Amino acid sequence: MKAMQCTAYGDPPELRVGEIGDPVPGPGEVLIAVEAVGLGYFDAVLVSGKYQEKPPLPFVPGREHAGRVVGLGDGVDPALLGARVAAIAFQGALAERSVAHAAHCLILPPGMDAVTAGSLLSAYATSLYALETCGALRAGETVLVLGGAGTVGAAAIDVAKALGGRVVAAASSDEKRAYCRRRGADMVIDYTQPAWRDALRELVGGVDVIVDTVGGPVSEPAFRSINPGGRHLVVGFASGEIPRMPLNLALLKRGSIVGVDWGGFMQKDHAGNRALMGRLRDLLCAARLHPEPTSVHQLDEVGLVLRSLVERRSIGKPVIDMRA
Ligand SMILES: NC(=O)c1ccc[n+]([C@@H]2O[C@H](COP(=O)([O-])OP(=O)(O)OC[C@H]3O[C@@H](n4cnc5c(N)ncnc54)[C@H](OP(=O)(O)O)[C@@H]3O)[C@@H](O)[C@H]2O)c1
Repeated sequence: MKAMQCTAYGDPPELRVGEIGDPVPGPGEVLIAVEAVGLGYFDAVLVSGKYQEKPPLPFVPGREHAGRVVGLGDGVDPALLGARVAAIAFQGALAERSVAHAAHCLILPPGMDAVTAGSLLSAYATSLYALETCGALRAGETVLVLGGAGTVGAAAIDVAKALGGRVVAAASSDEKRAYCRRRGADMVIDYTQPAWRDALRELVGGVDVIVDTVGGPVSEPAFRSINPGGRHLVVGFASGEIPRMPLNLALLKRGSIVGVDWGGFMQKDHAGNRALMGRLRDLLCAARLHPEPTSVHQLDEVGLVLRSLVERRSIGKPVIDMRA
């Protein structure tokens, strides 16, 4: 089958399209004919060699994807055969066929197109897990989304609105802030301004829940803006810097810092993840969520797309259409 392989780690990495053998689904796994692959910051970090786990070279990158189930490993519900799914794997999606665990698949709502399906799983599952499971967001609460125009950030805006939150999205440019508004943010803020915390206070007072995908210098001012009982959801560190938080702030603010690791959750708790997938599917089928790919690319553009993510130029979710 045709696949993209990473043959050398680096910045940029060496990425080549070639022919390799088909993957074989193991117990609990499904074989998927891939239609679309969503790219995110994780993919860029993995091929750069800077992720904590380094797959042996060469390997096929690509994590989240969508397609049709064309084969089953032992122990998988036969009803999955032929279903169209969004799926997630650690690697291997940028290929004609991939393998994913059945518990990591979302059966798609009827009629959802391939590129939308390829764009949604990681960002929406992470956001739903963060806001509902870890953050216990209640209707009427104010949510601050840091990096609102990012892949996870844009989904977090959409999920927070679906759960009844009032959303302030923070982003670094007019174009990104306009995108946040289009995705449903009630208010936007420029968190590159030194006095952005004062501007936030004028806008909404304090915030109840913070979705933090950025880390670095914005995390502490964000936590200082939290209301009593608030939850600061630690999702990622796209700034490349892990912030150090003075622990007395948690006491003074009576706020919680909550770690969010959807990847760890889905690997360790298959039953919990199946329930999360069911909840996500229900929200999608009820049209309460509005996933959208922001740009659609061909396989030979993967390197360029990953660059734009690393260089902070990407907006929303880029997707590779694998059907060409
Ligand atoms: N915990 C989990 O379960 C989970 C799941 C998925 C992803 N993640 C993590 O969440 C983070 C965000 O992922 P993503 O896919 O949403 O990334 P993304 O699409 O690249 O968005 C990240 C956002 O961070 C902001 N940013 C600030 N400083 C940046 C810098 N130096 N370089 C790049 N972006 C910068 C950018 O917005 P502005 O330009 O507006 O600042 C950008 O839109 C990553 O660390 C990822 O590994 C965690």
